[in-house]
Amino acid sequence: MRDDGVQGVAAMGELSGDEAKALAGSLRRLLQLSANLVERDGDAAPLIARVREHLGCDLSQVLSVATRFEAWEHVNLHRGVDAYLAAHTPDAEWFGVGGQHRGHEDIMGMLLAARHSMAYELGAADYATAAVGPEESVEVVQLGLVPTTAPDGTPVLVGIRGTNDYAPPMCRLEVLAADRAAARAVGGEIERLMREHDAFRRQVLSFGVSEHRGNELVTFLPRPSLEPDDVVLPDGVLDSIEQHVVGIAEHSERLLAAGQHLKRGLLLHGPPGTGKTHTVRYLMSRLRDCTVILLTGQAMRLIGQAAALARRLQPSMIVVEDVDLVAMDRGFAAGPTNPLLFTLLDAMDGVGADADVTFVLTTNRADELERALADRPGRIDLAVEVPRPDADGRLRLLRLYGRGVDLRADLGPVVEATEGVTASFIKELLRRAVLEAVRADGAGGVPVVGDELADVARAMADERLSLTNVLLGGQPGPAGPPGAAPFGPVPEPGTVNRGYYTFG
Ligand SMILES: Nc1ncnc2c1ncn2[C@@H]1O[C@H](COP(=O)(O)OP(=O)(O)OP(=O)(O)O)[C@@H](O)[C@H]1O
Ligand SMILES: [Mg+2]
Repeated sequence: MRDDGVQGVAAMGELSGDEAKALAGSLRRLLQLSANLVERDGDAAPLIARVREHLGCDLSQVLSVATRFEAWEHVNLHRGVDAYLAAHTPDAEWFGVGGQHRGHEDIMGMLLAARHSMAYELGAADYATAAVGPEESVEVVQLGLVPTTAPDGTPVLVGIRGTNDYAPPMCRLEVLAADRAAARAVGGEIERLMREHDAFRRQVLSFGVSEHRGNELVTFLPRPSLEPDDVVLPDGVLDSIEQHVVGIAEHSERLLAAGQHLKRGLLLHGPPGTGKTHTVRYLMSRLRDCTVILLTGQAMRLIGQAAALARRLQPSMIVVEDVDLVAMDRGFAAGPTNPLLFTLLDAMDGVGADADVTFVLTTNRADELERALADRPGRIDLAVEVPRPDADGRLRLLRLYGRGVDLRADLGPVVEATEGVTASFIKELLRRAVLEAVRADGAGGVPVVGDELADVARAMADERLSLTNVLLGGQPGPAGPPGAAPFGPVPEPGTVNRGYYTFG
């Protein structure tokens, strides 16, 4: 670098604009280096000086107690440190480390390197944003240090290092002090405060696998709001689900005192579009204090972390949707076993029996899972079939999804014409009928749905729309005898529904 500068000076006479800029840059670095050298001679490089000044010892005597956390804990780490500062040194000010190689090193490493090179310098703390709710985010320290004291008064420096592109997706807490016990005590207290101020508690979280590193692996979702009347299931079905999941939560203390376990596993199975996810959403809205963790698809790999989080944040609920897809994912399998499904079952087993944690699994291929679940009993203690609605169910669904309109149709023929369809089919049926009503009615106001509802139902049954029927969970197949229900018979209880087709 010094050579560059010298050459630049020699050629000063014919410098272009760019060359002049480069030369100026080199000169600045040269000056900085000499300043650092002089300061280091006096042990006073500003960054080092700041550390030494606060800790009251030479850098060689400083030790660092570091703890790594999952990337998504960054927001909690920040909150824990914030709470610690509020209790011990409310006026403490953050400072940062500037320099181009910051991505590679931990904080202590940067400080040590700063003694021997000009790679790092005193700067302002870096901040990033992190979500703390579906609509809310806060600033968190991405890289910074803050002077504070241990509970016994020993000076310590607390450092936060968020994830970066050069290291595994973890964040770090570093506590620097001359005394290991003091640094440990501070680290321990910050971890305790992290748990006390956990941003995930009582939230609905979705774990996703992101191509990007960082906190987007955990997404906050708004909690649904559903009433019992919004869920149309055969009599007693919702009650038994609710009693199993909500009832145990409500009486957890007495159950524990009576030596009963709290952990529970619920399997909801049935054809697509019958309300498995809908029922899960209802449970979420009933259990407002419950932390919910949703896992789908690729995110299943994070089941271990999700189970740990659920245990920590209990009462909590882990929802694994379409668990049959996991069962079929033989991506990592050697032979006929399925590690991903077994990993899930192991994770379910690993959560202590006394933990107020509910696992909810949904599938439309219960037969796929039967063997694995039977081989490892005790994970699922309630399996509920969510069937296609019977005549009474269809009537209730028509009224439910016709709530916002003036429903004047004779519903009897519609109920009859929709035998064998799913709840989501009825929902779509109403939408189409309302759309027709809105189109026909130029006056505006509440749409009036009359007997054309039955026509729409028949039109939807038309074989030209058979793919739509399949996609809405109807049952296509060879045309039945004249007068047969357009969607085929409702399966007998106990029959197995394989995907879209029903086998007796
Ligand atoms: N039993 C029901 N009662 C009221 N509405 C329902 C019911 N089932 C389905 N719906 C409506 O249809 C939509 C789709 O249903 P849902 O996503 O719950 O089906 P699913 O059983 O989870 O299907 P899949 O197996 O494809 O995941 C719901 O959001 C809801 O609006
Ligand atoms: Mg679903």
